[in-house]
Amino acid sequence: MLPFDDEGARRIQGVYATPDVVRQRDEVLTLLGARPGERVLDVGSGPGFLLASIADAVGPEGSAHGLDPSPAMNAIAAAHCAGRPGVSVDEGSAEVLPYADDAFDAVVSTQVYEYVADVLGALVEVRRVLRPGGRVVLLDTDWDSVVWHAADRDLHQRVMAAWEEHLVHPRLPRVLPGLLERAGFRVVDRVLIPLFNPVYDDDTYSAWTMDGIGAYVTGRQGLTEQDVDRWREDLRSRGTDYLFSIDRFCFVAVATDA
Ligand SMILES: C[S@@+](CC[C@H](N)C(=O)[O-])C[C@H]1O[C@@H](n2cnc3c(N)ncnc32)[C@H](O)[C@@H]1O
Repeated sequence: MLPFDDEGARRIQGVYATPDVVRQRDEVLTLLGARPGERVLDVGSGPGFLLASIADAVGPEGSAHGLDPSPAMNAIAAAHCAGRPGVSVDEGSAEVLPYADDAFDAVVSTQVYEYVADVLGALVEVRRVLRPGGRVVLLDTDWDSVVWHAADRDLHQRVMAAWEEHLVHPRLPRVLPGLLERAGFRVVDRVLIPLFNPVYDDDTYSAWTMDGIGAYVTGRQGLTEQDVDRWREDLRSRGTDYLFSIDRFCFVAVATDA
């Protein structure tokens, strides 16, 4: 199973509607500070929740472009944004942005560059499509930040190692500020956004993600369906000792004059 096919897209839509991710999105929107009339690009727009909010912020005089290579994601995003003026959902990749130079006032991207092989090249692309002085807001996860209370720590570590196979850069935030500077940006803000689930609840990021991880890792690194069921059961049965947290790292940067 690929994470961004029909089934993966449906699951991501569920994860991203949880209160945990709604809160994360609100913080990103505040950092982005999109204003009426602005032209904003969301790279890897996925299910389009953020894109819809950006469209509301820039209003009918502005424009909100979502870009994603996954047709399944784009279908969900288009449905989310239907009826909003100035929105387009485009098919394409971060590596070669299908837009003119200086086309945008702001670019945002959440949980995307960890999937992109040539991050520096992709950030140079962001710099190209931004007007001088334009801003970029990037959010990515350091997957070493995950704390998940498992009794069988060996099995847990095998599962998380197999899950990392779906990423190109599982620890991207460590090098993102340096890459931004090299791509022609000045980093002006750094914000940590933790997602914290101190109790088990079906409508949380960790509960949804547990299923997504389980589906992905089955058959990888020797993990059987039984192993994966045992892993999920182990986490869920911690009871009052259930504990999950993960850190998102958000960087705000401004395009320097070339
Ligand atoms: C974890 S989802 C995040 C979706 C969205 N940004 C959000 O936070 O709601 C990752 C998204 O990145 C997209 N993606 C993967 N590789 C990409 C690439 N090379 N360029 C642009 N988007 C990419 C996937 O299709 C998927 O929609």
